[in-house]
Amino acid sequence: MSTKIRVAIAGIGSCASALVQGVEFYLRNPENMIGLMYPEIGGYKTEDIEFVLGFDIDTRKVDTFLQEALYVLPNCNMRVIDPASKFQCIETNARTFRGPTLDGIAPHMLRYHGDITFQEDTKAHIISAEEYKELLKKHKVDILLNYMPVGAEEASKWYITHAIDAGVHVINCMPTFISTEDATALELMAIKNKVTIVGSDMRSSYGASRLSEVLQGSMMDAGLVVTQHIQMNMAAGTTQGQEHIINGRSANTDFLNMAEKARLHSKHVSKENVLSGQSIVRGKGLEGMTMFAGPSLTVVQRPGGDYMGTDNKVCNIDLVAYGFAGARYELTARLSVQDSPNSGGIVVDAIRFCRVAREMDIVGYLRGPSAWSQKTPPVQMTTADAKFECDAMARRVYTPITEKQKISNLFSVSNELLIEKVKELPFTFQKGKTEYE
Ligand SMILES: NC(=O)c1ccc[n+]([C@@H]2O[C@H](COP(=O)([O-])OP(=O)(O)OC[C@H]3O[C@@H](n4cnc5c(N)ncnc54)[C@H](O)[C@@H]3O)[C@@H](O)[C@H]2O)c1
Repeated sequence: MSTKIRVAIAGIGSCASALVQGVEFYLRNPENMIGLMYPEIGGYKTEDIEFVLGFDIDTRKVDTFLQEALYVLPNCNMRVIDPASKFQCIETNARTFRGPTLDGIAPHMLRYHGDITFQEDTKAHIISAEEYKELLKKHKVDILLNYMPVGAEEASKWYITHAIDAGVHVINCMPTFISTEDATALELMAIKNKVTIVGSDMRSSYGASRLSEVLQGSMMDAGLVVTQHIQMNMAAGTTQGQEHIINGRSANTDFLNMAEKARLHSKHVSKENVLSGQSIVRGKGLEGMTMFAGPSLTVVQRPGGDYMGTDNKVCNIDLVAYGFAGARYELTARLSVQDSPNSGGIVVDAIRFCRVAREMDIVGYLRGPSAWSQKTPPVQMTTADAKFECDAMARRVYTPITEKQKISNLFSVSNELLIEKVKELPFTFQKGKTEYE
């Protein structure tokens, strides 16, 4: 079926590079379905996704063709497509424009070697909000992907709210708009503009969040009480295609950016929302629970050697629980993954859910796809419930949740009452803070 789903990307980092290369990979290898959770969503395949615009601030990426920007440093994701070959999933001559920096670059990032960190452009024209909206309209963009670095609250707000204002759907891959208050206000704006949102803070297809959720959820469903859940993440290990680098290996820019505690605050809260979410959806309290999830360790190489970011991430999980007649359980798990392609596998679903939902006349936060694909969705769900919602939408079937979000239902009242209707949409209370703030 179908017309192409036209996508713009803000932040052409390692995740964007892995995503676009992945879409091209499946386009060139249509028989290969490995790594795809949904070969089809409402009739759309990954080959229906087309990338048409990019925005960045790095001097190596701005004012270039989007395809070129995917491959330059400090991006360090694995390469699966020859950079010199012509991409079919990128619109011919699609370019990367210079957006406003705002809080995109944390001061400590400037301390690192240029090959592994951001280099702010000082020459190219910085687009205004009006020019940004014009570009989105001129290029008929359906969906904006927000891939700002963690902590770039202002920059994210700029890309997201102006996109919604321009009638573009948004997938918010990083932890902004995570408190219920902020998310509700954003949803009202999206509904008024009749667009959808998937957010916030992308999970990976099979990463730390999924593993934590499934392990904790399965223990609770077995009647156990989980008293401790600690999830530690670090940049470590080797990355495919970079085995020749034996002297010099640092964390990728995502981890380097979070080396300063102040910068990673929102990611820490968002990661813990995954853990607390599994207790909340089962009606269990969190009091006294020993719980931690965070981008816990950023490793920077000692000066010298080659400078290359590593896209490999290792997660260690420790759980303690008590069960039948007080019997004790301890569970330890270790997961080592290639970080950026792992998120690409889920973004290809989020993109298609946005298109299909809009064709079903659903607007606002997509609660099922957000619970399945994001760390801080508006409604936390069990793994099974989130999958149920996604499966239904993939078959274009309404559920009691999506029925409420149909345009015909929401817009059956006056403008003033619309606000009340939006407030009635389900939200799991999410904090923008930790317990000790
Ligand atoms: N598996 C994963 O890697 C994963 C999973 C979930 C969420 N995320 C989140 O997705 C986001 C992107 O991750 P990444 O690994 O691609 O990061 P990255 O550091 O590789 O890319 C960030 C990009 O944003 C650009 N940028 C910075 N400020 C900007 C601005 N004001 N305007 C436009 N561009 C700007 C940088 O130049 C860079 O190209 C991060 O917030 C990350 O935490 C990643």
